[in-house]
Amino acid sequence: MSEIKDTRPALPPLPDDVRSAITELRRHYPTEEALLLPALHFAQKHWGGWLPEEAILGVADELNLAPAKVFGVITFYDLFHQSPVGRHRVRVCTNLSCALRGGNEILEAVKKHLNVAENEVSADGRCSVVGFECLGACEQAPMMMVDDDYHPHLTPDSASRILEELD
Ligand code: FES
Repeated sequence: MSEIKDTRPALPPLPDDVRSAITELRRHYPTEEALLLPALHFAQKHWGGWLPEEAILGVADELNLAPAKVFGVITFYDLFHQSPVGRHRVRVCTNLSCALRGGNEILEAVKKHLNVAENEVSADGRCSVVGFECLGACEQAPMMMVDDDYHPHLTPDSASRILEELD
């Protein structure tokens, strides 16, 4: 039986600071699986807020985990990004409670204000925007989050004013 050769190009090594951070973190976690989330957080910070493919494959290799497992974690958690994000991440809820109170209009107003489509970064690099399933504050609909801050009871105008005040 002939052996199947792996013809993929070799991965660039993880940057030294990412590798040493993972080595340090390893002392605090019982398994490589348990280490995965903090390792990805550190790698994402290193790459400026998102995880290019080389980062994902590099972390998988460093932790001896299947790339599919690492991609599965990244696509499950909203905290990880596979494309560049702005300095501020805007999440506009469009789930039922917010939708009934104008959430889709808020999302359109935000996109128009920033002149972007969903998952795009504004030309000045300040913001990226996504529609979100539920931000867990349905009683304050319609709402959005900017980074870690909740902004409740929005109108298209108040959402635009919030964006204007961002640095
Ligand atoms: S439906 Fe918008 S926060 Fe839950």
